[in-house]
Amino acid sequence: MQDLRPTLRHARPCDRDAIERLMRRSVRTLCTRDYSARQIAAMEREFGFGRLDEALILDGTYFVAEIQGAIVGSGGWSRRTKLLAVRDDDTGLESDLPHPPPGKAAIRAVFVHPEMAGRGIGRLLVRAAESDARKKCHDAFEIAATLTGVPLYRKLDYRTKGLFSFGLSGDGRFAFVLLSKRDGEHGLRPAAPAQRPAGPDAESPAPNG
Ligand SMILES: CC(C)(COP(=O)(O)OP(=O)(O)OC[C@H]1O[C@@H](n2cnc3c(N)ncnc32)[C@H](O)[C@@H]1OP(=O)(O)O)[C@@H](O)C(=O)NCCC(=O)NCCS
Repeated sequence: MQDLRPTLRHARPCDRDAIERLMRRSVRTLCTRDYSARQIAAMEREFGFGRLDEALILDGTYFVAEIQGAIVGSGGWSRRTKLLAVRDDDTGLESDLPHPPPGKAAIRAVFVHPEMAGRGIGRLLVRAAESDARKKCHDAFEIAATLTGVPLYRKLDYRTKGLFSFGLSGDGRFAFVLLSKRDGEHGLRPAAPAQRPAGPDAESPAPNG
């Protein structure tokens, strides 16, 4: 019988094209429940939404989920003071997105293949990112989530801090939600991994990292 459980591994520079294909497919399919196709296209065009910040791969803080060798999801974290790849200070583009405070790990660029949505892959990636960040002594997490991503983060005990948006030419604004959580806050403890990834080279997120 085929093993359809996802395995996790660190993303490599050579994965970049496959990851970006997945990101575009994910956004253009799954985000249409919350944004119009025109808003998504404008966000891609004007802010580079759906392009991967290569620093995440080079920092060794970005993961891919694979099923039978195919990338079905990606996500990670960063200690850099940046919440989104689209926030590029030298672009001069308009947004009211705040910088995360120093010491907080920013959960970054979590995308799941549309045909694999709703199977726990998003949760697996976020928990792996959190566990990895805990190993580097971070106990507070922040995410600039699409509206589509909010139910996932709420499920993982993130609390909404506010709404912010990017101004789009001709299409109004593209809204994101800022969410955060801190270990130990309101009795929160680091959650155990949703499931242990299968496979010999799988990254095994540490339960209490
Ligand atoms: C957001 C996203 C990553 C979720 O990935 P996923 O693998 O489908 O999510 P999971 O199956 O791990 O869901 C975990 C929990 O989140 C919640 N959840 C996820 N998607 C949900 C949805 N569309 N509606 C309601 N709840 C949802 C559920 O409570 C679920 O728990 P349950 O299965 O116990 O009910 C995926 O929808 C996606 O890639 N979206 C497009 C890109 C994007 O917007 N990424 C977010 C960037 S911040």
